[in-house]
Amino acid sequence: MIHSSTTFTMIASMPRFLFLAALTLALATSTAAARRRQIHLRLYMHDITGGPGQTAVQLVKGPGPAHPFMPGAHFGDTTVIDDALTEGPSAASPAVGRAQGSYMLAGLKEPVLMVSMTVALTGGAYNGSTIAVVGRDDISAAVRELVVAGGTGAFRKATGHVLWRTARMESRDHMVLELDIYATVPGAVAASSDGHRQAGVLNI
Ligand SMILES: *[C@@H]1O[C@H](CO)[C@@H](O)[C@H](O)[C@H]1NC(C)=O
Repeated sequence: MIHSSTTFTMIASMPRFLFLAALTLALATSTAAARRRQIHLRLYMHDITGGPGQTAVQLVKGPGPAHPFMPGAHFGDTTVIDDALTEGPSAASPAVGRAQGSYMLAGLKEPVLMVSMTVALTGGAYNGSTIAVVGRDDISAAVRELVVAGGTGAFRKATGHVLWRTARMESRDHMVLELDIYATVPGAVAASSDGHRQAGVLNI
């Protein structure tokens, strides 16, 4: 009884400035959390499924059933990729990274791949940073939208989306995809102690 009335007295007599300081801190924290930098990267991905320079290898021949619209394809077909990423659509254009991961035929009737990959940047302002990209790739759609699920380095706590288009076919085995990556990352100081550049300061 004595204890609870003492507690009440302490709260009631909490100096006004302490309350204001706590309120100011809460507001500053929420403002910082709301401030995010926007990043847009356009990259071209070279998915080469056979022949010289192959970067995409089928791991699993799906046990089926056979896909109704994709000749030779089976439900569950899974491919591992380490595809080159370039600045422009040509394979000869400067390399900016690798798309490492996999895609699986996850549509029984629709031509839909489940993509799960890391965009590892190896050049430009974001060298050493990575972006996790996952999502549904309906290859019959002109533009597909995938998810930026996170990242490392300059892309820590990134969120956003990727607009994914088939740019052109270099050959039967070489598909060029255009990736427009739109991400936001928490706004921050220009450089952090571990040497990674913070996002938004520089763009590729
Ligand atoms: C990217 O970073 C690596 C490791 O720090 C370095 O060896 C390489 O030269 C850098 N590449 C470019 C194009 O800056």
